[in-house]
Amino acid sequence: MTQPLRRVLITGAAGMLGRRLLVDAPQGTLCVTTDLASAEGLDAPGVDLADSARVERLWAEAGPFDAAIHCAAYTAVDLAEKESAPAERANALACEVLARRACLSGTRLVAVSTDFVFDGTASRPYREEDPPNPLSVYGRTKLAGERAVLEFHPRGGLVARTQWLYGPWGKHFPRTIAAAARDKGRLKVVDDQRGSPTSTLALSPALWDLARAGAPGLYHAACDGECSWFEFTRAILDALGLTSVVLEPCSSADFQRPARRPAYSVLDSSKLARLRGRSLGPWREALTSYLAATRAFDPL
Ligand SMILES: NC(=O)c1ccc[n+]([C@@H]2O[C@H](COP(=O)([O-])OP(=O)(O)OC[C@H]3O[C@@H](n4cnc5c(N)ncnc54)[C@H](OP(=O)(O)O)[C@@H]3O)[C@@H](O)[C@H]2O)c1
Repeated sequence: MTQPLRRVLITGAAGMLGRRLLVDAPQGTLCVTTDLASAEGLDAPGVDLADSARVERLWAEAGPFDAAIHCAAYTAVDLAEKESAPAERANALACEVLARRACLSGTRLVAVSTDFVFDGTASRPYREEDPPNPLSVYGRTKLAGERAVLEFHPRGGLVARTQWLYGPWGKHFPRTIAAAARDKGRLKVVDDQRGSPTSTLALSPALWDLARAGAPGLYHAACDGECSWFEFTRAILDALGLTSVVLEPCSSADFQRPARRPAYSVLDSSKLARLRGRSLGPWREALTSYLAATRAFDPL
């Protein structure tokens, strides 16, 4: 069933993905945001999405909404290991509050989630029906959020898991690599974690399609193909012409971080491709398109 999208709530619109969703909004769709003022440097607090009374007021003042795309999240994966309460509130409780409210008004809710719900022991790309087993606080809280969306909004709750995201305006891996390469000329990068780098330019139209026409349930939403962080780095450096940088592979054990990451978290996004009649496209092409599209206004 296709949903007309006249008025859509975008949470996390000040973040990397949320901003892209605003750019890609279909013609004639009015986007209501919960936190854009803070992104513009204005001293206006965002809506606390875990506060049901505040969310009720949001619906009364700015609703009703045909759909909501929920990108707001506590995304500091390592910090979450010692700050689990705010991660729990933002990633799990906010999903429950939104799902309950969206269910009441028949608003389709697309909540964005992560490959970090998996433990990385698979030997083929993860499908939606594969059992999750998160290794980190971030992954556990995101999984709790997914479950809340599906449980409290059974007729209109959708979860889109994505991974290794980058895009305009964000703090992300390609930007970090470009800066480090120019600064140091020599890089050591992890070669034993595999995933699918995914550009917000490729993901955002798919989320709009889910908001318009997706059936309730889980969807994987990543670019096609897979690589290690090391291989991704090589592609970034080549694309930027930084070919003289010395690049060395290393293992996750050489680069300890507070949160454990899945060693292999490639997502099989064929369910979403069937719904849309196309995939998000190969990750290498997405990287090239991203660099070409943003060269003038957001160069790496
Ligand atoms: N980035 C990735 O590699 C990746 C991979 C897989 C999945 N995801 C998922 O994709 C979605 C979008 O990620 P992103 O990279 O765009 O994240 P982001 O740039 O960190 O943006 C997240 C946004 O959520 C807001 N936020 C955080 N806590 C909030 C709260 N309690 N209430 C309201 N707003 C809150 C943040 O505002 P403040 O900045 O003011 O805190 C920020 O604007 C998230 O659900 C994330 O879990 C991301």
